[in-house]
Amino acid sequence: MKIAVFSTKRYDRQFLAAANTTHQHEFLFLETRLTPDTAQLAKGAGVVCAFINDQLDKSVLEQLATYGINHIALRSAGFNNVDLEAASQLGIKIARVPAYSPYAVAEHAVGLILMLNRKLYRAYNRVRDDNFALDGLLGFDLHGSVVGVIGTGKIGQCFAQIMRGFGCQLLGYDVYQSQVCLDLGMTYVSLEELLAQAKIISLHCPLLSSTYHLINEKTLAQVQPGTMLINTSRGGLVNTRDVIEALKSGRLGYFGADVYEEEEELFFEDLSGTVIQDDTFQRLQSFPNVVVTAHQGFFSRNALEAIATTTLNNISDFELGRDCPNLVGKD
Ligand code: NAI
Repeated sequence: MKIAVFSTKRYDRQFLAAANTTHQHEFLFLETRLTPDTAQLAKGAGVVCAFINDQLDKSVLEQLATYGINHIALRSAGFNNVDLEAASQLGIKIARVPAYSPYAVAEHAVGLILMLNRKLYRAYNRVRDDNFALDGLLGFDLHGSVVGVIGTGKIGQCFAQIMRGFGCQLLGYDVYQSQVCLDLGMTYVSLEELLAQAKIISLHCPLLSSTYHLINEKTLAQVQPGTMLINTSRGGLVNTRDVIEALKSGRLGYFGADVYEEEEELFFEDLSGTVIQDDTFQRLQSFPNVVVTAHQGFFSRNALEAIATTTLNNISDFELGRDCPNLVGKD
Protein backbone atom coordinates (compact mmCIF):
# COMPACT_ATOMS: atom_id res chain seq x y z
CA MET A 1 0.00 0.00 0.00
CA LYS A 2 1.34 3.45 -0.85
CA ILE A 3 1.26 5.65 2.25
CA ALA A 4 1.46 9.45 2.20
CA VAL A 5 3.16 10.19 5.54
CA PHE A 6 2.57 13.82 6.54
CA SER A 7 4.59 15.78 9.14
CA THR A 8 7.52 13.40 8.66
CA LYS A 9 10.66 13.88 10.71
CA ARG A 10 13.91 11.96 10.45
CA TYR A 11 12.91 9.73 13.36
CA ASP A 12 9.55 8.87 11.72
CA ARG A 13 11.35 7.62 8.60
CA GLN A 14 13.75 5.60 10.72
CA PHE A 15 11.13 3.86 12.87
CA LEU A 16 8.56 3.34 10.08
CA ALA A 17 11.23 1.87 7.79
CA ALA A 18 12.37 -0.50 10.55
CA ALA A 19 8.78 -1.63 11.26
CA ASN A 20 8.11 -2.13 7.52
CA THR A 21 10.40 -5.16 7.31
CA THR A 22 7.37 -7.29 8.18
CA HIS A 23 5.14 -5.44 5.66
CA GLN A 24 5.58 -4.38 2.04
CA HIS A 25 4.33 -0.81 2.22
CA GLU A 26 5.65 2.01 0.05
CA PHE A 27 6.21 5.38 1.75
CA LEU A 28 5.81 8.87 0.37
CA PHE A 29 7.46 10.88 3.14
CA LEU A 30 6.23 14.49 3.27
CA GLU A 31 7.74 16.96 5.71
CA THR A 32 4.84 19.37 5.42
CA ARG A 33 1.79 19.38 7.68
CA LEU A 34 -1.49 18.18 6.21
CA THR A 35 -3.65 21.24 5.51
CA PRO A 36 -6.19 22.17 2.81
CA ASP A 37 -3.22 23.49 0.76
CA THR A 38 -1.06 20.37 1.06
CA ALA A 39 -3.72 17.62 0.90
CA GLN A 40 -3.18 17.33 -2.89
CA LEU A 41 0.28 15.87 -2.22
CA ALA A 42 -1.50 12.67 -1.13
CA LYS A 43 -2.87 12.04 -4.64
CA GLY A 44 -1.95 8.53 -5.76
CA ALA A 45 -1.56 7.18 -2.22
CA GLY A 46 -3.91 4.57 -0.77
CA VAL A 47 -3.63 5.76 2.82
CA VAL A 48 -2.76 8.99 4.59
CA CYS A 49 -0.65 8.68 7.72
CA ALA A 50 -1.03 11.74 9.95
CA PHE A 51 0.24 13.14 13.23
CA ILE A 52 -1.28 15.31 15.95
CA ASN A 53 -1.01 18.73 14.29
CA ASP A 54 -2.18 17.57 10.88
CA GLN A 55 -5.49 19.10 9.94
CA LEU A 56 -8.17 16.50 9.32
CA ASP A 57 -11.16 18.78 9.16
CA LYS A 58 -14.08 18.49 6.76
CA SER A 59 -12.41 20.34 3.88
CA VAL A 60 -9.27 18.19 4.00
CA LEU A 61 -11.25 14.96 4.34
CA GLU A 62 -13.42 15.94 1.37
CA GLN A 63 -10.30 16.53 -0.73
CA LEU A 64 -8.79 13.21 0.30
CA ALA A 65 -12.07 11.44 -0.57
CA THR A 66 -11.95 12.89 -4.10
CA TYR A 67 -8.50 11.28 -4.52
CA GLY A 68 -10.05 7.94 -3.55
CA ILE A 69 -8.40 7.91 -0.12
CA ASN A 70 -10.74 6.36 2.38
CA HIS A 71 -8.29 5.26 5.08
CA ILE A 72 -6.33 7.39 7.51
CA ALA A 73 -3.80 5.98 9.95
CA LEU A 74 -3.01 8.31 12.85
CA ARG A 75 0.41 8.00 14.48
CA SER A 76 -1.14 9.17 17.74
CA ALA A 77 -3.56 8.15 20.47
CA GLY A 78 -5.43 11.47 20.49
CA PHE A 79 -7.78 12.18 17.58
CA ASN A 80 -9.11 15.62 18.49
CA ASN A 81 -7.73 16.96 15.16
CA VAL A 82 -10.14 14.76 13.16
CA ASP A 83 -13.70 15.71 12.20
CA LEU A 84 -15.14 12.26 12.90
CA GLU A 85 -18.62 13.25 11.77
CA ALA A 86 -17.31 14.30 8.35
CA ALA A 87 -15.13 11.17 8.11
CA SER A 88 -18.15 8.99 8.83
CA GLN A 89 -20.27 10.78 6.20
CA LEU A 90 -17.48 10.39 3.62
CA GLY A 91 -16.94 6.72 4.51
CA ILE A 92 -13.34 7.37 5.59
CA LYS A 93 -12.03 4.98 8.22
CA ILE A 94 -9.72 6.37 10.87
CA ALA A 95 -7.35 4.20 12.87
CA ARG A 96 -5.14 5.36 15.73
CA VAL A 97 -2.50 3.96 18.07
CA PRO A 98 -4.53 3.69 21.27
CA ALA A 99 -1.60 2.83 23.51
CA TYR A 100 2.11 2.90 22.85
CA SER A 101 3.90 3.89 25.98
CA PRO A 102 1.84 5.49 28.71
CA TYR A 103 5.08 5.41 30.72
CA ALA A 104 6.77 7.84 28.32
CA VAL A 105 4.16 10.57 28.90
CA ALA A 106 3.72 9.89 32.62
CA GLU A 107 7.48 9.98 33.19
CA HIS A 108 7.72 13.27 31.30
CA ALA A 109 4.98 14.77 33.49
CA VAL A 110 6.96 13.73 36.56
CA GLY A 111 10.09 15.22 34.97
CA LEU A 112 8.31 18.57 34.68
CA ILE A 113 7.27 18.38 38.34
CA LEU A 114 10.81 17.71 39.55
CA MET A 115 12.23 20.37 37.27
CA LEU A 116 9.79 23.02 38.49
CA ASN A 117 9.84 22.10 42.16
CA ARG A 118 13.64 21.92 42.52
CA LYS A 119 14.25 24.55 39.81
CA LEU A 120 16.65 22.22 38.04
CA TYR A 121 16.67 24.39 34.91
CA ARG A 122 18.01 27.32 36.96
CA ALA A 123 20.38 25.18 39.02
CA TYR A 124 21.93 23.69 35.87
CA ASN A 125 22.63 27.12 34.38
CA ARG A 126 23.89 28.55 37.67
CA VAL A 127 26.44 25.84 38.29
CA ARG A 128 27.72 26.06 34.71
CA ASP A 129 28.22 29.77 35.43
CA ASP A 130 30.18 28.95 38.64
CA ASN A 131 27.31 30.39 40.68
CA PHE A 132 26.89 27.96 43.57
CA ALA A 133 24.39 30.02 45.60
CA LEU A 134 21.15 28.32 46.62
CA ASP A 135 18.95 31.38 47.06
CA GLY A 136 15.87 31.06 44.84
CA LEU A 137 16.14 27.28 44.45
CA LEU A 138 14.01 26.32 47.47
CA GLY A 139 11.61 23.45 46.76
CA PHE A 140 9.17 21.34 48.77
CA ASP A 141 9.00 17.61 49.59
CA LEU A 142 6.83 15.68 47.18
CA HIS A 143 6.43 13.11 49.97
CA GLY A 144 3.09 13.81 51.64
CA SER A 145 1.98 16.33 48.99
CA VAL A 146 -1.55 16.04 47.63
CA VAL A 147 -1.51 15.29 43.91
CA GLY A 148 -4.70 15.63 41.85
CA VAL A 149 -4.92 13.49 38.72
CA ILE A 150 -7.55 14.61 36.19
CA GLY A 151 -8.15 11.65 33.87
CA THR A 152 -7.09 8.29 35.29
CA GLY A 153 -6.82 6.28 32.08
CA LYS A 154 -3.61 4.61 30.89
CA ILE A 155 -1.30 7.61 31.34
CA GLY A 156 -3.02 8.91 34.48
CA GLN A 157 -2.60 5.46 36.08
CA CYS A 158 1.14 5.31 35.31
CA PHE A 159 1.52 8.83 36.62
CA ALA A 160 -0.37 7.94 39.81
CA GLN A 161 1.87 4.89 40.33
CA ILE A 162 5.01 7.01 40.13
CA MET A 163 3.65 9.72 42.42
CA ARG A 164 2.54 7.08 44.92
CA GLY A 165 6.15 5.89 44.89
CA PHE A 166 7.18 9.37 46.01
CA GLY A 167 4.78 9.04 48.94
CA CYS A 168 2.18 11.50 47.62
CA GLN A 169 -1.50 11.45 48.56
CA LEU A 170 -3.59 10.82 45.44
CA LEU A 171 -6.86 12.48 44.49
CA GLY A 172 -8.56 11.54 41.23
CA TYR A 173 -11.24 13.00 39.02
CA ASP A 174 -12.61 11.01 36.09
CA VAL A 175 -15.94 9.96 34.66
CA TYR A 176 -14.88 6.35 35.41
CA GLN A 177 -12.90 5.10 38.41
CA SER A 178 -9.78 3.05 37.76
CA GLN A 179 -9.27 -0.05 39.92
CA VAL A 180 -5.49 0.39 39.52
CA CYS A 181 -5.76 3.87 41.05
CA LEU A 182 -8.15 2.74 43.79
CA ASP A 183 -5.66 0.00 44.70
CA LEU A 184 -2.96 2.69 44.97
CA GLY A 185 -5.10 4.42 47.57
CA MET A 186 -6.44 7.16 45.30
CA THR A 187 -9.57 8.93 46.53
CA TYR A 188 -11.97 9.95 43.79
CA VAL A 189 -13.49 13.36 44.42
CA SER A 190 -15.42 16.02 42.52
CA LEU A 191 -13.47 18.39 40.30
CA GLU A 192 -14.13 21.19 42.80
CA GLU A 193 -12.66 19.18 45.68
CA LEU A 194 -9.63 18.17 43.65
CA LEU A 195 -8.96 21.78 42.66
CA ALA A 196 -9.32 22.98 46.24
CA GLN A 197 -7.11 20.31 47.84
CA ALA A 198 -4.30 19.45 45.44
CA LYS A 199 -0.84 21.01 45.65
CA ILE A 200 -0.03 19.54 42.23
CA ILE A 201 -2.66 19.07 39.50
CA SER A 202 -1.80 16.97 36.45
CA LEU A 203 -4.04 16.74 33.39
CA HIS A 204 -4.41 13.34 31.69
CA CYS A 205 -7.88 13.49 30.15
CA PRO A 206 -8.51 13.80 26.40
CA LEU A 207 -9.49 17.03 24.69
CA LEU A 208 -13.23 16.82 24.03
CA SER A 209 -15.91 19.48 23.80
CA SER A 210 -16.64 18.71 27.48
CA THR A 211 -12.99 19.21 28.53
CA TYR A 212 -12.14 22.23 26.33
CA HIS A 213 -10.67 24.96 28.59
CA LEU A 214 -11.33 22.82 31.68
CA ILE A 215 -8.71 25.01 33.32
CA ASN A 216 -10.00 28.56 33.09
CA GLU A 217 -10.49 31.67 35.17
CA LYS A 218 -13.32 30.04 37.15
CA THR A 219 -11.55 26.75 37.92
CA LEU A 220 -8.26 28.52 38.65
CA ALA A 221 -10.05 30.64 41.25
CA GLN A 222 -10.72 27.40 43.15
CA VAL A 223 -7.10 26.24 43.53
CA GLN A 224 -4.87 26.93 46.52
CA PRO A 225 -2.40 29.81 46.10
CA GLY A 226 0.90 28.46 44.76
CA THR A 227 -0.56 25.32 43.13
CA MET A 228 1.48 23.53 40.48
CA LEU A 229 -0.35 22.78 37.20
CA ILE A 230 1.05 20.21 34.76
CA ASN A 231 -0.41 19.69 31.29
CA THR A 232 1.02 16.88 29.18
CA SER A 233 -2.31 16.06 27.57
CA ARG A 234 -3.60 18.64 25.06
CA GLY A 235 -3.16 22.40 24.92
CA GLY A 236 -6.88 23.06 24.51
CA LEU A 237 -7.57 21.77 28.04
CA VAL A 238 -6.13 25.02 29.35
CA ASN A 239 -7.06 28.64 28.69
CA THR A 240 -3.50 29.98 28.48
CA ARG A 241 -4.46 33.61 29.02
CA ASP A 242 -6.22 32.68 32.27
CA VAL A 243 -3.17 30.66 33.33
CA ILE A 244 -0.99 33.72 32.71
CA GLU A 245 -3.25 35.81 34.96
CA ALA A 246 -3.13 33.10 37.65
CA LEU A 247 0.68 33.03 37.44
CA LYS A 248 0.80 36.82 37.77
CA SER A 249 -1.42 36.78 40.86
CA GLY A 250 0.44 33.84 42.43
CA ARG A 251 -2.68 31.66 42.38
CA LEU A 252 -0.57 29.29 40.31
CA GLY A 253 2.94 28.87 41.68
CA TYR A 254 4.24 26.73 38.83
CA PHE A 255 3.13 25.72 35.35
CA GLY A 256 4.65 22.87 33.37
CA ALA A 257 3.35 22.20 29.87
CA ASP A 258 4.29 19.80 27.12
CA VAL A 259 1.40 20.99 24.96
CA TYR A 260 0.05 24.37 23.91
CA GLU A 261 -3.24 25.26 22.28
CA GLU A 262 -1.63 27.03 19.31
CA GLU A 263 1.30 24.62 19.12
CA GLU A 264 0.83 23.69 15.45
CA GLU A 265 2.39 27.05 14.49
CA LEU A 266 5.44 26.40 16.70
CA PHE A 267 6.23 22.90 17.83
CA PHE A 268 8.36 20.31 16.04
CA GLU A 269 10.24 23.02 14.07
CA ASP A 270 13.50 24.88 14.68
CA LEU A 271 12.34 28.51 14.90
CA SER A 272 15.40 29.71 16.80
CA GLY A 273 16.31 32.20 14.07
CA THR A 274 12.85 33.69 13.66
CA VAL A 275 10.74 36.20 15.58
CA ILE A 276 7.91 34.36 17.32
CA GLN A 277 4.63 36.17 16.61
CA ASP A 278 2.59 34.46 19.32
CA ASP A 279 2.62 37.00 22.18
CA THR A 280 0.70 34.72 24.55
CA PHE A 281 3.32 31.99 24.17
CA GLN A 282 6.15 34.50 24.63
CA ARG A 283 4.53 35.89 27.79
CA LEU A 284 4.26 32.36 29.13
CA GLN A 285 7.93 31.78 28.40
CA SER A 286 8.87 34.90 30.35
CA PHE A 287 7.88 33.50 33.78
CA PRO A 288 10.63 32.07 35.97
CA ASN A 289 8.23 29.41 37.29
CA VAL A 290 7.09 28.05 33.91
CA VAL A 291 8.66 25.22 31.94
CA VAL A 292 7.41 24.42 28.46
CA THR A 293 8.56 21.46 26.39
CA ALA A 294 7.54 21.04 22.75
CA HIS A 295 5.21 18.01 22.85
CA GLN A 296 7.91 15.46 23.57
CA GLY A 297 6.05 13.38 26.16
CA PHE A 298 5.63 10.53 23.68
CA PHE A 299 9.22 10.77 22.46
CA SER A 300 10.89 7.63 23.77
CA ARG A 301 12.47 4.88 21.67
CA ASN A 302 9.97 2.36 23.04
CA ALA A 303 7.03 4.58 22.13
CA LEU A 304 8.27 5.29 18.58
CA GLU A 305 8.78 1.56 17.94
CA ALA A 306 5.27 0.81 19.19
CA ILE A 307 3.73 3.69 17.20
CA ALA A 308 5.39 2.52 13.96
CA THR A 309 4.43 -1.13 14.52
CA THR A 310 0.77 -0.42 15.32
CA THR A 311 0.43 2.16 12.52
CA LEU A 312 1.69 -0.30 9.89
CA ASN A 313 -0.45 -3.11 11.32
CA ASN A 314 -3.49 -0.81 11.06
CA ILE A 315 -2.63 -0.07 7.42
CA SER A 316 -2.17 -3.77 6.64
CA ASP A 317 -5.59 -4.42 8.22
CA PHE A 318 -7.05 -1.79 5.85
CA GLU A 319 -5.23 -3.25 2.85
CA LEU A 320 -6.17 -6.86 3.53
CA GLY A 321 -9.76 -6.06 4.52
CA ARG A 322 -9.20 -7.40 8.05
CA ASP A 323 -11.07 -6.00 11.04
CA CYS A 324 -8.90 -3.25 12.50
CA PRO A 325 -9.15 -3.15 16.31
CA ASN A 326 -7.98 0.47 16.48
CA LEU A 327 -10.69 2.28 14.54
CA VAL A 328 -12.15 5.46 15.98
CA GLY A 329 -15.68 6.50 15.11
CA LYS A 330 -17.95 9.41 15.81
CA ASP A 331 -19.51 7.45 18.68
P1 NAI B 1 -7.12 7.08 28.10
O1 NAI B 1 -8.26 7.06 27.14
O2 NAI B 1 -6.53 5.78 28.54
O3 NAI B 1 -7.52 7.90 29.42
C1 NAI B 1 -8.23 9.10 29.39
C2 NAI B 1 -9.04 9.17 30.67
O4 NAI B 1 -9.70 10.44 30.69
C3 NAI B 1 -10.13 8.09 30.75
O5 NAI B 1 -10.08 7.43 32.00
C4 NAI B 1 -11.43 8.89 30.61
O6 NAI B 1 -12.51 8.33 31.32
C5 NAI B 1 -11.00 10.23 31.19
N1 NAI B 1 -11.91 11.31 30.84
C6 NAI B 1 -12.65 11.46 29.72
N2 NAI B 1 -13.39 12.58 29.81
C7 NAI B 1 -13.12 13.13 31.02
C8 NAI B 1 -13.59 14.29 31.70
N3 NAI B 1 -14.50 15.10 31.15
N4 NAI B 1 -13.09 14.55 32.94
C9 NAI B 1 -12.16 13.72 33.49
N5 NAI B 1 -11.71 12.61 32.90
C10 NAI B 1 -12.18 12.32 31.68
O7 NAI B 1 -6.02 8.01 27.42
P2 NAI B 1 -4.46 8.05 27.74
O8 NAI B 1 -3.75 7.09 26.87
O9 NAI B 1 -4.26 8.00 29.21
O10 NAI B 1 -4.09 9.51 27.20
C11 NAI B 1 -4.60 10.68 27.81
C12 NAI B 1 -4.29 11.87 26.94
O11 NAI B 1 -2.88 12.10 26.92
C13 NAI B 1 -4.64 11.71 25.45
O12 NAI B 1 -6.00 12.01 25.21
C14 NAI B 1 -3.74 12.69 24.78
O13 NAI B 1 -4.41 13.92 24.67
C15 NAI B 1 -2.56 12.84 25.76
N6 NAI B 1 -1.31 12.36 25.20
C16 NAI B 1 -0.21 13.21 25.20
C17 NAI B 1 0.99 12.80 24.67
C18 NAI B 1 2.21 13.67 24.68
O14 NAI B 1 3.17 13.38 23.95
N7 NAI B 1 2.27 14.72 25.48
C19 NAI B 1 1.12 11.47 24.06
C20 NAI B 1 -0.05 10.63 24.19
C21 NAI B 1 -1.22 11.08 24.71
